[in-house]
Amino acid sequence: MKFDTVLAERKHKVIYRDGDLCAKVFDESFPKSDILNEALNQARVEETGLNIPKIEEVTKIDGKWAIISDYIEGKTLQELMDENPDKLDEYLNLFVDIQKDILSKKCPLLKRLKDKMQDKISQTDLDATTRYELHTRLASMKKHSKVCHGDFNPSNVIITPEGVPYILDWSHATQGNGAADAARTYLLFCLKGDKELAEKYLKLFCEKTDTARQYVNAWMPIVAASQSVKGNPEEREFLLNWANVFDYQ
Ligand SMILES: Nc1ncnc2c1ncn2[C@@H]1O[C@H](COP(=O)(O)OP(=O)(O)OP(=O)(O)O)[C@@H](O)[C@H]1O
Ligand SMILES: [Mg+2]
Repeated sequence: MKFDTVLAERKHKVIYRDGDLCAKVFDESFPKSDILNEALNQARVEETGLNIPKIEEVTKIDGKWAIISDYIEGKTLQELMDENPDKLDEYLNLFVDIQKDILSKKCPLLKRLKDKMQDKISQTDLDATTRYELHTRLASMKKHSKVCHGDFNPSNVIITPEGVPYILDWSHATQGNGAADAARTYLLFCLKGDKELAEKYLKLFCEKTDTARQYVNAWMPIVAASQSVKGNPEEREFLLNWANVFDYQ
């Protein structure tokens, strides 16, 4: 294989294309267990029947771990939104429909969202009183087992030239409450500095899934705290501010 076309470059990984294949190559600094976990999540989600790139191989290229999957021809929803601002509403509609489709699936072997978030809250820089409040609130949330993407944003969806959507990037996938996944997407839009789009997205999500906005809001501090653990310093500050807000309506 000769992966010489770079599709995307990230802090600790590079994504290449070689013909029908796509290789996500991780730096040596990347924990092996995280890479294998991402591949395992992807393999498990494949079994739900969702449209995702299939894993072909997990291997080492020049001493670096790599996940090889099918290359998906097309543009990400993010690219399409940037190129056609007049079609934003149409794309946002599609984006929420895809998230609804993900949330309609079950995948009993995925890690539980509540367990993952309890661990993350313990790892935050928040004081013990706030952590206690967040742990208690999380424990009181209803038990759900929907497939949650965990990083659902428009750059993780590719639309093929025929208009078929594929969902990428399953490293954060869990099973749990759909409102938590919506809270995460909302915060991702906010972190990108687009509060207006975040609001528009959440309104549409609540309408299409018949979810109360207050219910998503109740998740917001929990999700923000969990997300703060690996964020860069500016993101961390923004998220920790959210994590401290308990009366947000
Ligand atoms: N199977 C694939 N086929 C085509 N393009 C892909 C594929 N996988 C990844 N890409 C391209 O590479 C980009 C990054 O891939 P991916 O989202 O899997 O990595 P990531 O490091 O988790 O990125 P991010 O942190 O931005 O979410 C995608 O937005 C897409 O443009
Ligand atoms: Mg991605």
